[in-house]
Formats: sequence, structure tokens, C-alpha cells
Amino acid sequence: MAPSVSLEVGSDGVAIITLFNPPVNALALPVLAGIKEKFDEAMRRDDVKAIVVTGNAGRFSGGFDINFLREVQKTGDTSLLGRVSIDLMTYTIEEGQKPSVAAIDGLALGGGLELAMACNARVSTSKAQLGLPELQLGIIPGFGGTQRLPRLVGLSKAIEMMLLSKPVGAQEGHELGLVDMIAPQAELLAAARKWALDIAEHRRPWMQSLRRTDKIEGLSDAREIIKFARAQAKKNAPNMRHPQHCLDAIEEGVIAGGFAGALMEEKLFTQAVFSDTSKALINIFFAQRNTTKVKGVTDLGLKPRALKKAAVVGGGLMGSGIATALILSNIPVLLKEVNDKFLQAGLGRIKGNLQSRVKKGKMTEEKMAKTLSLVKGVLDYNDFKTVDVVIEAVIENIGLKQQIFADLEKVCSPTCILATNTSTIDLNLVGEKTKSGDRIIGAHFFSPAHIMPLLEIVRTDKTSPQSIVDLINLGKVIKKTPVVVGNCTGFVVNRVFFPYNMAAPLLLDLGVDLYRIDAVVKAFGMPMGPFALADLVGFGVALAVGQQHLQAHPERGYKSMFIANLMKEGRLGQSTGKGVYQYDERRRAKPDPVAMKIAQKTQQEAGKMPGGKPIKISDEEIAEMLLFPVVNESARVLEEGICAQASDLDIATVMGMGFPAYRGGVCHWADAVGIKYIVTKLQKWTELYGDFFKPCTFLVERAASGVKLSEPVSSNAKSRL
Ligand SMILES: NC(=O)c1ccc[n+]([C@@H]2O[C@H](COP(=O)([O-])OP(=O)(O)OC[C@H]3O[C@@H](n4cnc5c(N)ncnc54)[C@H](O)[C@@H]3O)[C@@H](O)[C@H]2O)c1
Repeated sequence: MAPSVSLEVGSDGVAIITLFNPPVNALALPVLAGIKEKFDEAMRRDDVKAIVVTGNAGRFSGGFDINFLREVQKTGDTSLLGRVSIDLMTYTIEEGQKPSVAAIDGLALGGGLELAMACNARVSTSKAQLGLPELQLGIIPGFGGTQRLPRLVGLSKAIEMMLLSKPVGAQEGHELGLVDMIAPQAELLAAARKWALDIAEHRRPWMQSLRRTDKIEGLSDAREIIKFARAQAKKNAPNMRHPQHCLDAIEEGVIAGGFAGALMEEKLFTQAVFSDTSKALINIFFAQRNTTKVKGVTDLGLKPRALKKAAVVGGGLMGSGIATALILSNIPVLLKEVNDKFLQAGLGRIKGNLQSRVKKGKMTEEKMAKTLSLVKGVLDYNDFKTVDVVIEAVIENIGLKQQIFADLEKVCSPTCILATNTSTIDLNLVGEKTKSGDRIIGAHFFSPAHIMPLLEIVRTDKTSPQSIVDLINLGKVIKKTPVVVGNCTGFVVNRVFFPYNMAAPLLLDLGVDLYRIDAVVKAFGMPMGPFALADLVGFGVALAVGQQHLQAHPERGYKSMFIANLMKEGRLGQSTGKGVYQYDERRRAKPDPVAMKIAQKTQQEAGKMPGGKPIKISDEEIAEMLLFPVVNESARVLEEGICAQASDLDIATVMGMGFPAYRGGVCHWADAVGIKYIVTKLQKWTELYGDFFKPCTFLVERAASGVKLSEPVSSNAKSRL
């Protein structure tokens, strides 16, 4: 159904304006134009005394249409944005000749809530959800939200709701003054009609949010609140300008009045729409929605089978996390271990994961007990015939995994999905001793598995589309973002980041201070630097993974002795309190003079420093030397068809490695920086420091032909998907 807006006038003289744009009644251009047209009509008609605006099918409106925002960003046509805030929200609705009331059921988010706040009152059901989450998309509220929300709920609460993109429920909204009345769903429209007539017939006040001042603190208090918010926003989002712009608009409104604030908001909103941050965040928004569209798999009309019962083999770090994720989504789990001691340890970890949710107030004790009862520890395969999916998470040993899959093939039902959480082993090898290649699949979780949102689904040439569709669905059920990738060493996230983890010690061997390297990467927006990450993962694992990549791609690896030298001194990473950093009892990291000495010794032994002297390098170039090799490997992953679309790589790097979402993921970022520039830099470093940096042919060709990295790979690419 095409987006539309209807108007119906009742015998009581109330015009009901209804938004239709499934699924969330987003404010697409035709909807905004329809609202304007219907309000104008209602204002004109003699038989209309008052207006109620509502959304079809139990949803008020999910907000401004993000497809349209992306379109504006592509075309650069600002005229498309129009003057919704001033012309429609303020002049037509709020200051119209007839009063209007919003009847809200379900979502009233972003532009949806702004429309509701422009009305003269709001009646909602108890299920309403109200919020201004625009900052998540790198923009600010643009239809008067920065002005009306503080005037309805007070400055502090409004700032919290906007800066944290945190919605409130109907009850809280009512207590705050955002909602005037809560009505049962069946009576929503009747209550809103009555309220609108009451205003028209002077039984209730005719409120205009933009003109209100009673909820806004006095000037000096208001300035203090805004100052504090600015400092918080700077700390939480140091590389983003739009939270400050949101506060600029709020401050202008406090000082110069709501109308002046709305004018400033309009200007800053347009600016924000065209910012790199917004383009990046909107790319991530769509990338996340696109991951479940897999050509040749999800377009075959296959129905996912419900995987109602699962088994996890191995209750170590990963197995216990995976089991936690499953039971949290009400999927019963058999957890298999080798002996009772390891089994109890695994069950204990699951309990610990749930307890930490209870401590954070995310779960009640009662719910925890119920959830925990969904996991059953076992030491054999006796009950495995009853499960729909097995996820293997034993130690990274090919022989052991092969044996386990051969056993699983015998004990499980012939339709059971057989998944492995291996980080590196070729899936064809894992399934070599079975005839079940069609249902052998990678379910690669990231640690901690019950928290990290990404699930890499690894397929081989033999994996059936049905198995993939089933696992995609399971991923969604357990609230992960599934990304389907091809089979290769390290799959996608670990593969594209292996050069990053090697570039860091290479820079160190060139004489760059190791703590400076971490600081630069943090300033770029990664959650931690590569050395802090090695400490967290543990050196045993870090070395083993590095080894796999060196074996797979010896021509483009860099073998550093730094981690090995640290290990020789008994430093194994964070778990032992000493790695590249030293850790106190609360796991707070501090640079360590001993590690620095080991670094200097490693530098001397490596003999990489030109003329024996540390290279001189800017912070910007340090970040580039760490991340351009990631772009280079990403290009290979795309060329080989390991990832079918660049947007999958974007979401995988953001969710799997913490690449900053506001930079849009690795491919989006590379295109924003310019791949011509990236190739030039890689070529320069190849000459200076060797083939580790050599740009791949695919990247060089794209740079030469001016084709973006995010453009689709031609169909003659050697796709593995
Ligand atoms: N650690 C990570 O960050 C990470 C991330 C993604 C994937 N992985 C992969 O997950 C797998 C497990 O890694 P981990 O870190 O949880 O290892 P771990 O050593 O913490 O746990 C492995 C567990 O498997 C158990 N086990 C061994 N043989 C078994 C058998 N026959 N039946 C049942 N249990 C058995 C062991 O007793 C141990 O408890 C590996 O393949 C690893 O590559 C690890």
C-alpha cells in the first residue's frame, strides 16, 4: 500500500487524520505532504471543530523516513527537506485555528513524537513508547523536538532522552507531562476526540508547547545543566559534533525563546544530515538490515525451521557464553563436557553470566532460576537425538573436532544442524569424516558470546541454503546480527583484522612507542588499542591466531618477536595481571616500564629502524598504517566473494571488532578517505618497509578506475557464496 494520510470527520465535529505507511507509519515525503494537506483541509472546513491525529494499526509513527534521509544525502538536495518544522509543525499544527490532539498507540519516535508534541495535547495507550533517538543516526531532532521536549518534560530529562536516545514508556511520559492522559486501547480515539473538543469549547487549556516556559529552569540553572551535558557528551562521543549541536539548539531556545531555538535547530539539522557522521551511521543502519538478504539463499522462498532445542559441545569460555545466549532466548540447551569437573565449571560460568545480569538489574532472581533450569549438563551424547542444532565449541584442534562431528552424525537426527564455533579451521576439514556437508556450518560467535552482537555464519560449497536460512533465523531469535560469510582462514572479522594486529608490532619495531600506538587507535574511536586487545585475549591465543594467518598468507604477514619476548618473561596478558600493561586488582591498566624495556630489546633485535633510529611519524599516519592494511585485506575478502556485499563487512567490523560505527564500517570509511589515497600510501610504505603493505590488485584497480570499495563486485568475481 502506498503511503497515505486519510481524513474523516465525525458527527461530533472532530476530524480524524490517520497516517498509513506500514510497518511503522514512517514520515515519508508523501506522508508529510498528506499531513499538511489534511490539516489544511480540516482547518478550512466548517464542519470541523477540532482535530485528532493518529497512526494506523497500533503505531503512531516511528519517525522520519530514513530511506528518504539517505536519498537526501546522496542527491545533496536540501530543498527536499522543506520547512517541516516551521511551516507544518509550528504554523499549520501548533498555531492552527483549531486545536489538535495526538492519539498515540505504540511507537511515537523521532519525527513521530515531534508531530505529537506539536499538537495541543497528547492522549496515549499504556503501550506507547515515546522518544527522540535521532542522535543515533548522527542527526539531531529536526521538527522542533529540541525545543518542545524540554518545554514539556524539563531540561535535564529532555537532554537525557535526546543524548542517550532513550525513550520513555506511557506511564513515565504521563508523570513527566509528555502525555496528558492514558486511555485503554479501545477508548483511545474516543478519549482523544473528547479532549480535542474540550479544548475547542474552552473546557481545557489550549496549550502550545513551543510557547511554554514553566518547565524550563531559570537561565543560570539551565546554563549549568547544559554545560554539564556538553562535558558528558564530549567525554562519551569525543569525535562527534552533533550532540553538541543538539545542545546548541536547546541553549538557543532557552536564551532566545522556542521559535528562535527552532530556527537554529532547523539550520543545524540540515548541517547534520550532510555530515560524515550521519552518512556513516545511516550506512550502518541499513547494513544491519541487509545482512539477512543473501542472494541464492534467502530469495529461494525457503521457510526457516524453528530450532527449538540445542546442544553445545564444550563448556569453556565460548561454549558457556553460547549456552547463555541460547537460554536467554528460552532455548533449552544440553551442555556437554569431558568430565564432571569441567562440566561444573562450565555450568558455573553460565550461572555467573546470569548473575551479572541480576546485579545490573536486567533480570530478577526468579527469572534467573527459571532461565538456568533450561540448561542441562551432560557427559555423553545420549540425549542428542532430540536436539535441532548442535554448536561445537571445544578447543581448536582439528583431529578432535573431526571426531566430534563424526560422532554427532551418528547420534543426532539427520536434519539436525551441525555447527562449529571454530575461529580458524577450514570447515571442509571439520566435516571431512562425515557425509553431512550440507548441514555442517560455522556459527562463529565473538567473546563474550552472550554479549557480543555479531554472529558470523560460515558456509562451505556444500552447506545447504536450508541450513543457512535456519541458522540466520536462530541468530535473530537469540538477538544477534547474523552475517553470512565464506570459508577461509579467519573468516571475515579475524581475517581483515589480522594485518592490524601485525601492523602494531611492526610499528613498534620501527621505533614507535607502544603506548602511543594504543592511544592513537583509541582516539580514532576503537574501544582499545591493539596491544590492550592482545592483553585481553591472552598471548597464547593471540600467538596461535597470528600463526594461522602467517601460515595462510606468509607473503603478507609480519612476524614480530614482541609477544614471544613478553611471554619469556612470564607475562601472558590481562589474566595474569601482566602483559603489555600491568593491571591492578580492579583490572585497571597502567603502562609498565618492564614491558617498555622488552619492547626496546625487541626493536633492537628486529633491526627494522632505518639507520637504527626510530621513524618520525604523525598520529594520523600511525592510524593509517594500522588501518589501511585492514582495508587492503577487506578488498581481498570482497574480491574472493567471502563477503557478498561491502555493507556486510561494514557491520561485521563494527560489531566484531569495535570499528567505530560513526565511521560507517571499514569499506564506508575507506571510500570516505578515498581509496586512491589509501593505495598511494600503501605503495609508499611497501617501498619503505616491505610487502606487508603491498596493495592487492583489486584495490589498485578500483583506485585507478575510480570505483568505490563499497560498489558491488562484478558477477564474474570468483564468488564463494
Ligand atoms: N576464545 C575466543 O575468544 C574465541 C572466539 C571465537 C571462537 N573461539 C573458538 O571456540 C572454540 C572454543 O574456544 P574456548 O576459548 O571456549 O576454549 P576453552 O578451552 O575455554 O574451552 C574448550 C572446552 O571444550 C571442552 N572439551 C574438549 N573436548 C571435548 C569433548 N570431546 N566434548 C565436550 N567438551 C570438550 C574442554 O574441556 C573445554 O572446557 C575454539 O574452537 C575457538 O577457536 C574462541
